[in-house]
Amino acid sequence: MSQEAPRSAQWYAGQDRNSYIHRAWMRRGAPADSFDGKPQIAIANTASDLTPCNAHLDEVAQHVKMGVWEAGGVPLNLPVVSLGETQMRPTAMLWRNMAAMAAEEMFRANPVDGVVLLGGCDKTIPALLMAAASVDIPAIVVPGGPMATGTFRGRPLGCGTDVWRLSEASRGGELSSEDFLTSESSMIRSRGHCNTMGTASTMALVAEALGVVLPGLAGTPAVDSNLLAGAHETGRLILEMVRADRRPSTMITRASFHNAIVALAAIGGSTNAVVHLLAIAGRLGVELTLDDFDRTGAEVPLLVNLQPSGTFLMDDFHRAGGFRSVLREVRDLLDPEAITITGRPLVDGLDSARIWDEEVIRSRAEPLQRDAGIAVLRGNLAPGGAVIKPSAASAHLMQHSGPAVVFESIEDLRARIDDPDLDVDENSVFVLRGCGPKGYPGMPEVSNMPLPRKLLERGVRDVVRICDGRMSGTAYGTVVLHVAPEAAAGGPLALVRTGDTIRLDVGARTIDVMLTPEQLAARTPDPRSVAGYAQPTRGWERLYVDHVLQADTGVDLDFLVGSSGSQVRRESH
Ligand code: FES
Ligand code: MG
Repeated sequence: MSQEAPRSAQWYAGQDRNSYIHRAWMRRGAPADSFDGKPQIAIANTASDLTPCNAHLDEVAQHVKMGVWEAGGVPLNLPVVSLGETQMRPTAMLWRNMAAMAAEEMFRANPVDGVVLLGGCDKTIPALLMAAASVDIPAIVVPGGPMATGTFRGRPLGCGTDVWRLSEASRGGELSSEDFLTSESSMIRSRGHCNTMGTASTMALVAEALGVVLPGLAGTPAVDSNLLAGAHETGRLILEMVRADRRPSTMITRASFHNAIVALAAIGGSTNAVVHLLAIAGRLGVELTLDDFDRTGAEVPLLVNLQPSGTFLMDDFHRAGGFRSVLREVRDLLDPEAITITGRPLVDGLDSARIWDEEVIRSRAEPLQRDAGIAVLRGNLAPGGAVIKPSAASAHLMQHSGPAVVFESIEDLRARIDDPDLDVDENSVFVLRGCGPKGYPGMPEVSNMPLPRKLLERGVRDVVRICDGRMSGTAYGTVVLHVAPEAAAGGPLALVRTGDTIRLDVGARTIDVMLTPEQLAARTPDPRSVAGYAQPTRGWERLYVDHVLQADTGVDLDFLVGSSGSQVRRESH
C-alpha cells in the first residue's frame, strides 16, 4: 500500500454510499479531516480487571493516543481478548490461540493501517504478535512492565518464585502456615506483571530482541513514568512504520529469531518462550525449529541474576542497566542484520548501554553460568523432543538415573504426593502425563511437581521431574518439560511404569527409559491416565483438541499457521 493510499482508504475514500456509512458512524467528534488519508491506528488493548497484570494498560493507551494524534494519525482503542494467567482454569494457555485468532480477525476486518499491541501478562504479548504476523500489518508492542518489588519481613518477594519457595518451606515445616498466608498480602504491591524473570518479563524482552519494541523500553517498570513516555513515542513511531510500509514480514526474519534466542539464554528466560517463539515464527513462515534453541542458545552465558535462576527482581534489573546492557555484552553473538521497528539494526547504539550493578547484570567476563541456554533433549521418552532449562536446574542432577514414580494425572499426584507410604527418595524420577496440549487440555504449568513432604523434611529440594506440560516461567528445578509427542497424542511417556529406570543426561541431550523397543511396543497406555485425557464434545475446547499442534512446533492450531495478509475483498453492505 502506498503512502498516498493507506489500507483504510479502501473504507473511507470515495463518494459512494458505503464510504459514507464507514465515515459517518466514526465521526463522533473526530476532526473533519480524520478520514482524508490519515493512517488509522488500532491500539490492541488487553486491559482487563480479570487480567490484573494488565489492568493499567488503559492509561498506557492514552499516552499512545497522544503520540498517534501528534504524528498525524487517528488512534482507536480496540479491546481484545485478555488472558489473566493466575485466574483462568484450566490454564490461560488454552486460549492463547483463541486470543490470537480473535485479534487477527479484528485487525483484518477493521479499517486500520497499523496496530500498537499493549500486553504484559504471559500470553498477551505472544497472542498479539501471532495475530499481527498473520495479518502482516505494521505493529509495535508496548510491554506493560513489571510491578514494584514487595517485601515480607524485610525481604523482597519474587512473584511466583517465592510462592513456590514459601509453599515448600511451609510444607517442609520451616515456616508456619499462618506466616505463609501472612506473606500473601505482601506479594503484589503495584500495577504491572510478575517481577521475576517469568514468562511476562521474558516475552517483553524477547519481543524487544525480535525488534518489535521501542529499543530500551522493555523491562521499564509499570509504575515508571518513562513507560508512559515510551508509549507516547511508540504512538509517533507507528505512523513512521505505516508510512515506510514496515510490516512483520519485511522486518522479522530468521536473524531476528536468532537474536531472540541469544537474548533468552543471556537473561535466563522462561521455557515458555520456546513455544511462543515457535508459534510466532510459524505465523511468519520463518523456518525455526526446536533445535535452533539448542544450537543458538546453548553456548550463550547467563548474565542476569534474576529469580528464578538467580536472586534479584525486575526493578533491580532496570536499575542495573536493563536489557540494552545485556545485549551489549553479547553483541558479538547477535546478528547485526536484524532490524527493529525503527528501521535500524538491533545492535545500533549499544555502545552507550552500561551495566551499573554487576551483582544483578554480570559482565561477559564473569557470567553466572556458561552455556546457559535451554537444552533440547531427545530419546525414547521424547522422540519429538523435550526441553530443560539448565540455569534453573540442579547441577548434581544433570546426569542422573533413577526409578520412575508415575502419576497418572495432576489429581493423582495431589492425592498421593504426601502419602507416607509413597515409595520415593532423592533418586526417584517423577513422571506426570496427560498434561500436554490435547490431554489437559491447554498444556498447563504443572510440570514443576511439588516434592513429597517427607523429602522436604529431609532437606531434599529437587528431584528429576518429567512431564508433557509446561512450567511457570517463575518456577525452578530439574524439570524435563514439553515432552513431545504428549501422552494423549500417543507419545511413549504414556507407557512408563513406576519402577522403570529413567536416565537423564543433559550433556548428551538424552532422556530415555531403560526399555527395549520391543518392551515398549508390547505395552499399552495405563487406562487410568487415558480416562483423564480431555474429551470435549463442543465449543472452543473441541476445536482446540482437534487441531492443536505439539510442543515441538509451538502449540498453535494447524489451520492458524501462516498468514492470510490484510486483504478483505468484499464490502459489508
Ligand atoms: Fe501475570 Fe505473572 S501472573 S505476569
Ligand atoms: Mg505463567
